[in-house]
Amino acid sequence: GISAPLSLSAEFEGSFAYLTVRDRLPTILTKVIDTLHRNKDNFFKEYGKEGVQAEKTAISFLSRLRNELQTDKPVLSLTDNAEDSEAWNEYMRRQQDLMEDGRPVSWFKSPWLYMECYMYRRIQEALYMNPPMDKFDVFKEGKTQSYFESQQAIKTLCTYLQELITNMENMTEIQLRDSFLKLLQISLWGNKCDLSISAGQDNSQKSSPIDSLPDLQRFILVDDSSMVWSTLVAAQGAGSSGKKHARVDIILDNAGFELITDLVLADFLVSAGLAKQIRFHGKSIPWFVSDVTKQDFEWTIMQTMAANHKWMSASGVQWKHFMKEGTWSYHDHIFWTLPHEFCDMAVDAADLYSTLQGSDLILFKGDLNYRKLTGDRKWEHTVPFDQALRGFQPAPLCSLRTLKADVQVGLQPGQAEKLSSQEPDWMTNGRYAVVQFSSPCRE
Ligand code: F6P
Ligand code: MG
Repeated sequence: GISAPLSLSAEFEGSFAYLTVRDRLPTILTKVIDTLHRNKDNFFKEYGKEGVQAEKTAISFLSRLRNELQTDKPVLSLTDNAEDSEAWNEYMRRQQDLMEDGRPVSWFKSPWLYMECYMYRRIQEALYMNPPMDKFDVFKEGKTQSYFESQQAIKTLCTYLQELITNMENMTEIQLRDSFLKLLQISLWGNKCDLSISAGQDNSQKSSPIDSLPDLQRFILVDDSSMVWSTLVAAQGAGSSGKKHARVDIILDNAGFELITDLVLADFLVSAGLAKQIRFHGKSIPWFVSDVTKQDFEWTIMQTMAANHKWMSASGVQWKHFMKEGTWSYHDHIFWTLPHEFCDMAVDAADLYSTLQGSDLILFKGDLNYRKLTGDRKWEHTVPFDQALRGFQPAPLCSLRTLKADVQVGLQPGQAEKLSSQEPDWMTNGRYAVVQFSSPCRE
């Protein structure tokens, strides 16, 4: 393919990748083990002795995994014969071929993106191998808790949405555009609330998501949101029968407050007639601590419906309705929980790629998606976003991402240097963000 710089890796000592593999990943594994321990009584109640035995075996599997990681052991193939196991093992062979002098693929020597994804997949292996543990989501408690800790912010946001919808009929085009841009930014900053950067520590939304927008503006390093707006406006007239039928795909990231901001944005798009169809894409296994699974998605809508707050429950009821009538739909695909860069999608998940080609706008939420868009490589900061995508252009797309990893492209000359001199950890402290757009027809 098109040539690209090296992958970020823990092999670069002192790098963020290195610190993650050394410190954050073992912490996350330890928490997973604790969670299984704490739920012992529940496993017993539900499945009796068999449940307790499964829990024990899973725990010893996970302790071994933690040890393999900490002692930089070669990566092992998956043995659970799941739908995606062969794809993982194939990817391992591919990585092996890339290793210099036949060194084995291992935690501290191989690409960080691959190793981090692999850890989450191995956690799942521990559960798959130990039914009835295989349906258990080890991150569920954390996700639920962070949803409840963001209650106030959720109420504020739902109230704001319902007010917007009430006033929508009288809005001018400019007002509609401004409201869209606000909700896009709220969804962007919603990405601050992930639980993997904090290794599972509380990271919920406490302040008002609307009042804080002006102060946050200066932390947006690249802001292509006006192109997102023009894409939506252009797509509205694009129906073959002259009908408006724009379809937006949202590649979700985290559950909790971030998911609410995505649902609110999606509601606005439909209510304002900017989109006819929204397709949400989530993960098919628990992933990166807080990522959305189908269960989280459904749970969130149910909880919001049942809330003891007029506008929150009104929002939830509307969302349930959108799902029921098919205006909204939820999809998952194993590709989202494979370690591949997105430029591999056209070949390695051709069905998903061609589905995405039918979209008028794809929104990619969050840091991990950004890493996969850009291949998690040591790009120069001034390399154009389009170039870093290396041919991944199924449809107009936009990344909404707060920076939590050492990769950032598409900056102005000097911009990165200036940031580095003021705030050396600007790429990983989660205070900065980008709204980066790319379109197949733009050149
Ligand atoms: O390094 C921080 C981290 O754990 C990354 O591994 C990952 O890219 C990110 O957090 C997850 O963030 P997000 O939920 O935005 O994808
Ligand atoms: Mg995430």
